[in-house]
Amino acid sequence: MLAQAQVRAQTLHRSVDLRLGDAQHLSFPDASFDTVVATLTLCSIPNEEAAVAEMARVLRPGGRLVLLDHVASPARPVRAVQRLLDPLLVRVEGDHLLREPDAAVRAAGLVIDELTRSKWGIVLRLTAHKPTPRDPPPSGRGQCLTGRLTGPEHSEPPRRLAHVSPDPCHPSKGESPWVS
Ligand SMILES: C[S@@+](CC[C@H](N)C(=O)[O-])C[C@H]1O[C@@H](n2cnc3c(N)ncnc32)[C@H](O)[C@@H]1O
Repeated sequence: MLAQAQVRAQTLHRSVDLRLGDAQHLSFPDASFDTVVATLTLCSIPNEEAAVAEMARVLRPGGRLVLLDHVASPARPVRAVQRLLDPLLVRVEGDHLLREPDAAVRAAGLVIDELTRSKWGIVLRLTAHKPTPRDPPPSGRGQCLTGRLTGPEHSEPPRRLAHVSPDPCHPSKGESPWVS
């Protein structure tokens, strides 16, 4: 993968410092990056909380985290299928289907700015930032209020994510986040 990235960097005439490492133990000082991007990686990393905590550590205050991954769907029927397949996929591919990186992002002290789900809630795109001393204190509610749910294959117009539970990203039993 690094070789592919090297070729791509050369094609774009960019000078890029490419390194191989364990995302759970980054070899960079605190607050050394403006932006961290992780695509389709947290599903494979053994300890996603440790990896997100490392991402938060190396971000400077005000720095941005950009994530795209496949995650546990909030839709119960879809999640039930994921629950069935997860043990097999973990064993064969090391690929976890029931991850909830947005919870790990909040636990790492980052503030979610935008969260969108597509493909029956399985694909999650998220941007967050590391708070600065100027940020208001976290309310604990409504971090996902700006999130949108888009329909399968974008065939439906975006639907706003209603504030239906204390944690709108993880509704309690009987509550649905899929509100028009
Ligand atoms: C499904 S692939 C995605 C690759 C790439 N990010 C992409 O978007 O195409 C999952 C990747 O996670 C990487 N990975 C798994 N555990 C890791 C760890 N502890 N630290 C860093 N990368 C890890 C694997 O090496 C693999 O390249």
